[in-house]
Amino acid sequence: MPRYAKIVILTGAGLSAESGLATFRDTGGIWAKYDYRDVATPDGFQRNPNLVYDFYNMRRRESANAAPNAAHEALARIQRDYPGDVLLVTQNIDNLLEQAGAEKIIHMHGEMTRMLCTHCDARLPWAADLSPDLACPECELIGGMRPAVVWFGEVPYEMARIAKALGECDLFISIGTSGNVYPAASFVAAASEAGAHTVEINLEPSDTTNYFAEHLHGPATEIVPSYIERLLAG
Ligand code: OAD
Repeated sequence: MPRYAKIVILTGAGLSAESGLATFRDTGGIWAKYDYRDVATPDGFQRNPNLVYDFYNMRRRESANAAPNAAHEALARIQRDYPGDVLLVTQNIDNLLEQAGAEKIIHMHGEMTRMLCTHCDARLPWAADLSPDLACPECELIGGMRPAVVWFGEVPYEMARIAKALGECDLFISIGTSGNVYPAASFVAAASEAGAHTVEINLEPSDTTNYFAEHLHGPATEIVPSYIERLLAG
């Protein structure tokens, strides 16, 4: 029997920082350059769709040029080699975990490589730039295509599945997230209430640091591989 039967790992922008993708709230981060109300809310999209298309087109291109780092690789490895269940829940809309070989991933904030048709709700793979004149491949209506990402004020994907996993896990690990955005920020409390051991891996103490039983502070590419190594050693 492994030490932990069910592990849930929550990841945030800090996981991909050392792959060259900017975080949101660090100095010089994305929200220092953009007002989230303009580019990450349904209202912002209605006001100025072109700004929103440009923002996600730019981020999609940046992430297409990025490669998984040692922390992504370690997370793919634990999923492959650990004898218990390992669910990855990510707030990241890049696909660096998949590129590293991870498989069981919930993208609770959606994915940059998909688009969503606001006419028929189709969610489809899409690697190219989005624009207002695109027709939906499913319903063929023009003008309804938006990035398949979750904006502020919208409900993240697969919340029921995440809640079930948090209620059943015996180890919860949070990696590279500021603990600033709900509902993800509440996951540690849910896991803790379910009796799980909780571990925070982050460059610095997060906003929810007091909820965690164990703290490992430093760059993800250093801390995550050694922590995973220890878990695999039993
Ligand atoms: P944030 O930018 O809020 O937080 C990133 C965290 O990662 C910070 O606490 C950093 O200290 C830490 N960090 C930075 N570099 C790191 C490294 N190399 N190793 C380890 N930790 C590092 O990003 P998120 O918490 O992911 O949502 O943000 C949550 C959500 O807020 C995002 O999904 C996005 C954003 O607004 C939407 O756009 C809806």
